[in-house]
Amino acid sequence: MTTLIASSRDYGALVKEDRVHSSIFTDEQIFQDEMERIFHRTWLFALHESEIPKFGDFKRIQLGRFPVIATRDETGKVQLLINRCRHRGAQVCEAPRGNAKRFQCWYHGWTYDTKGDLVGVTGAEAYDENFSSTEHALPKVPRVGSYRGFVFASLAEEGVTLDEYLGSTKKFFDIMIDSSPIGEIEVKPGVLNKTMYRGNWKQVGMDGYHPHYVHMAVFKIFSKRESTIGSAVGALHIEDPFADVSQSRTRGFANGHACLDFREQRRSHAAMAIDDLQRSEDGRQYVADMIASYGQEHAEELLAWHGDPHLGLFPNLQLIHDHVRVVIPIGPGETQVLMYPVFLKGVGQSINEKRLRAHEAFYGPAAAGSPDDAEIFERTQRGLLADAEPWVLLARGLNREQVDEDGSITSCISDEITQRVQMQEWKRLMTAH
Ligand code: FES
Ligand SMILES: [Fe+2]
Repeated sequence: MTTLIASSRDYGALVKEDRVHSSIFTDEQIFQDEMERIFHRTWLFALHESEIPKFGDFKRIQLGRFPVIATRDETGKVQLLINRCRHRGAQVCEAPRGNAKRFQCWYHGWTYDTKGDLVGVTGAEAYDENFSSTEHALPKVPRVGSYRGFVFASLAEEGVTLDEYLGSTKKFFDIMIDSSPIGEIEVKPGVLNKTMYRGNWKQVGMDGYHPHYVHMAVFKIFSKRESTIGSAVGALHIEDPFADVSQSRTRGFANGHACLDFREQRRSHAAMAIDDLQRSEDGRQYVADMIASYGQEHAEELLAWHGDPHLGLFPNLQLIHDHVRVVIPIGPGETQVLMYPVFLKGVGQSINEKRLRAHEAFYGPAAAGSPDDAEIFERTQRGLLADAEPWVLLARGLNREQVDEDGSITSCISDEITQRVQMQEWKRLMTAH
């Protein structure tokens, strides 16, 4: 039995180069410290700008322990307001999304506008002239930034810039966005899959080792398909993208970001992806528009990549296949995952329909992909609670890592670089003062 954590709270000792201590997935105090030291300190993904396109549009989001209202004010600016009434602290907005020019608190009726300014106090005569409405606006999230429509927030007044935080991962965002011929995507706040699983938030995504095992059944079915339009797993009937002999790679970046990099593997299937599209009118138009926008060579690789960056931004965003995935930790053994399918602007309707059907086939609630992931996370959590042998091994491929020109670390697709860089960032943030 281990007493390592409870006695010392030495978080540095819980993450080694090739293994981590299971308490980081199960311990309640560690979870609370993760909220303070990670989620309230670093950059978090908030929402995509297209989710609140018009004045008054709003969406309720969760940033660490902070409930937040994202609004579009009358100047067109995205505001991130802490959803906490300045009277006695009630959440002023309960609807998950909608359009409103005012937010009236349910408790005693104070009213705020889309900038968070207090514009109405019920029974105002009970306050004297010392009461100032301007001093009682909804608090704003201290730092907000965006990259090509992806809005990020930091609850810390100071820290690295968003540009530094994203670093060389920006070119992977571009893979998703530039799969639209006009370089614009749309995320619809009401169109999503929601999953709640009884497991830790750090389990989600970026594992190139598990597909052959957890997803064996669905892979067998997909390998019989000839069409790859919007495919979640590429051209499975030609080549296995999760084989270590393939050109697929794991990749780790600064700040704990990681990806399963399928670019080279898919580039070799560009002709097939384009042939597939050429079979329909919308597809032919899509190919022509992509070539007109990006040139022959880049258009071909963009079409081969299917808009899939397969990128994990530490700690709460993943861009996987054709969706934006938000990870919301609820407790050490409870996590919510929101998956928003991405719609391409500037393409025929049937292109987006096929992408949506492909998304549903793997990630939907009745699909055979994501539900199996949630199941394995729950089984893992139950195993991790037994801390007789408390170390979790992340050593796979440590002996064959290479550093690439952009500074990222890379290795074979099943290697655990992705887990190692996330855990090293976890250690850095949890031990920083
Ligand atoms: S708590 Fe909001 S008006 Fe009283
Ligand atoms: Fe999976």
